[in-house]
Amino acid sequence: MGQTATLAINGKSVELPIVVGSEKEVGVDIAQLRAKMGAITLDDGYGNTGACASAVTFIDGEKGILRYRGYPIEDLAEKSNFIESAYLLIFGELPTSPQLAEFKQHLTDYQFIHEDLQHALAGFPPNAPPMAILSAMINAAGCFESDLLESHDDKNIGEMAARIMSRVRTIAAASFKKHLGRPIIYPRSDMSYTANFLHMMFSKPYENYEPDPEIVRAVDQLFILHADHEQNCSTSTVRMVGSAKANLWASVAAGVCALWGPLHGGANMEVIDMLKRIHEGDDTAQSFIAKVKDKNAHAKLMGFGHRVYKNFDPRAQIIKKACDRVLGKLGIKDPLLEIAKKLEEAALHDSYFVERKLYPNVDFYSGIIMRALGIPTDMFTVMFAIGRIPGWIAHWREVNVNPHGRINRPRQIYTGPTLRPYAPIEKRG
Ligand code: CMC
Repeated sequence: MGQTATLAINGKSVELPIVVGSEKEVGVDIAQLRAKMGAITLDDGYGNTGACASAVTFIDGEKGILRYRGYPIEDLAEKSNFIESAYLLIFGELPTSPQLAEFKQHLTDYQFIHEDLQHALAGFPPNAPPMAILSAMINAAGCFESDLLESHDDKNIGEMAARIMSRVRTIAAASFKKHLGRPIIYPRSDMSYTANFLHMMFSKPYENYEPDPEIVRAVDQLFILHADHEQNCSTSTVRMVGSAKANLWASVAAGVCALWGPLHGGANMEVIDMLKRIHEGDDTAQSFIAKVKDKNAHAKLMGFGHRVYKNFDPRAQIIKKACDRVLGKLGIKDPLLEIAKKLEEAALHDSYFVERKLYPNVDFYSGIIMRALGIPTDMFTVMFAIGRIPGWIAHWREVNVNPHGRINRPRQIYTGPTLRPYAPIEKRG
């Protein structure tokens, strides 16, 4: 018998198995707790709850480590590309050349969306939030995948993954054009995944945008850095929805909705708004930091802090360097970058942030790169979503193939009124 933990409640005790992960992290398996003790655990916000065992991504938040399937994020960001990293996440291994070629071919084969989807797109008002469009259009696109929409057969996962990844990119670019009131640009079969995205975003009819390879590389790297992050809010949502045996399209669309929130993926837009406000003179870096520390002001330093990282976020470090490189290459001097660096410097030397172990996260500098590339602020979270799709697919697949998987259904401690008699309306008040 392996190690156990003993839990005692009111003189009665139970032995709970200890589960050890491949990186030696320790969990207490409480699956039998309620049956044996009549008690559940309570963990508001899930800060101490392992919702599943997963083989996709490893994070050590104390050491600032992030690995996809065992490979350090630094290596993947420098040496890999988004499609190869996506393949790694979804299939568990880096692809061989024929495997990669086949996956890329699938992505090209499925890059078009059904023409009828343009009617769905046309129904959104011009100022519709792109994350609303993306989420709705993923479900709408699923309606055109009747052969695979309800498939739970793992042999189809490659094709399903390629369809979602490729079409999400086409939908994202189309939603941008819709926002501008411009014609939709069709994908090109001769371009890589990321170059093709930039082409659909920035080409105009009869005026092709030929993306600079360095810019393509920068966007590709952003996608790699966003591709997975273990049990974050949107991925947990995808797993939760998938646990009900909902199809991949529905599960991914739910993930998009969770990512939209400003405490999650939506933070990349909030960072730019915050930096702009400071630039426009409402605040200085110092006065903003003072405001953030004042609990009555209810302000947060957006792009700072993380549930898991209590040391640097390795993605933020890579993005900060890329920021300097991309802005240098484009010859852009963005005052927001200077403000961001000042804020970071001030926060890292301030006891409020030091004591709470708050460091810049992935969203702190990513918006500055995207701004420099001409991507409008309200598309930032969509960019995050395009990057995160492979991670969501990998997690949905893990849930789907788990032979012991059960519907995710947490319990609660009820704090509402106890039993009371129904009062007729004339006797209320
Ligand atoms: N600015 C000021 N104070 C902060 C911040 C911040 N950005 N983040 C945390 N704190 C404080 C918080 O008020 C609390 O203080 P106290 O102990 O005095 O009550 C303490 O630090 C612990 O924070 P918490 O809210 O308990 O931490 P959490 O793990 O629940 O929240 C977080 C994590 C990322 C939601 C939070 O740090 C935050 O709101 N950051 C700003 C939004 C943001 O950048 N989100 C992107 C996260 S990374 C990408 C992604 O996952 O999408």
